[in-house]
Amino acid sequence: MLYYSRHGSVAALAERIAEGVESVSGALALLRRVPEVSPRTEQSDDPLPISGPPYAEPDELSACDGLILGSPAYFGSMASPLKHFLEQTSPLWLSGALIDKPAAVFTSASSLHGGHESVLLGMIKPLLHHGMLIAGLPYSEPAVVNTRSGCTPYGASHHDHPQGAPLSEDEVRCARALGRRVAKLALRLKSSS
Ligand SMILES: Cc1cc2nc3c(=O)[nH]c(=O)nc-3n(C[C@H](O)[C@H](O)[C@H](O)COP(=O)(O)O)c2cc1C
Repeated sequence: MLYYSRHGSVAALAERIAEGVESVSGALALLRRVPEVSPRTEQSDDPLPISGPPYAEPDELSACDGLILGSPAYFGSMASPLKHFLEQTSPLWLSGALIDKPAAVFTSASSLHGGHESVLLGMIKPLLHHGMLIAGLPYSEPAVVNTRSGCTPYGASHHDHPQGAPLSEDEVRCARALGRRVAKLALRLKSSS
């Protein structure tokens, strides 16, 4: 799991997704964040986060059997720290390290129509360039149909209103279901390769 979260909502989703991953026997969720970028768009000097999961190194991704990517909605797109990190993954792209591995996406947005789908679909594009196999949430998951908050067929999401609002039951269900799905696919693909 790789994500950026400034105020904690994306991090809260990541934790529920990790529960879903680890509900699958043999699967282990590795949580990694990306650091802030400075106003000059250079990477922050902070070597370690003050709290929470460590910052990711691009190379760590090649050791994973799947990738679940999360970002807040920033003006309808992923946040620049995550994009900045992804733009350092060219060596992985050149070596094909992520080809045929499953991937999924998640987001948090403060308005209901402020970009959940748009951000999720945008985050899928770099994963496709890496040759990853995209997993969404099928409508067989009741929360995708029933939700009155976040949770989409394109990935898990949270309607963060007011800011810092807890995840709804449907959002938690979707997050866990997404983690479970990617973990199952990763194990299946790994055993068949
Ligand atoms: C620069 C900026 C741009 C934002 N753009 C959007 C947006 O386009 N749509 C939206 O619904 N919320 C937007 N928000 C709100 C955040 O997406 C929302 O609060 C999110 O839950 C924050 O995630 P975090 O708690 O993990 O940092 C924006 C917030 C900031 C700071």
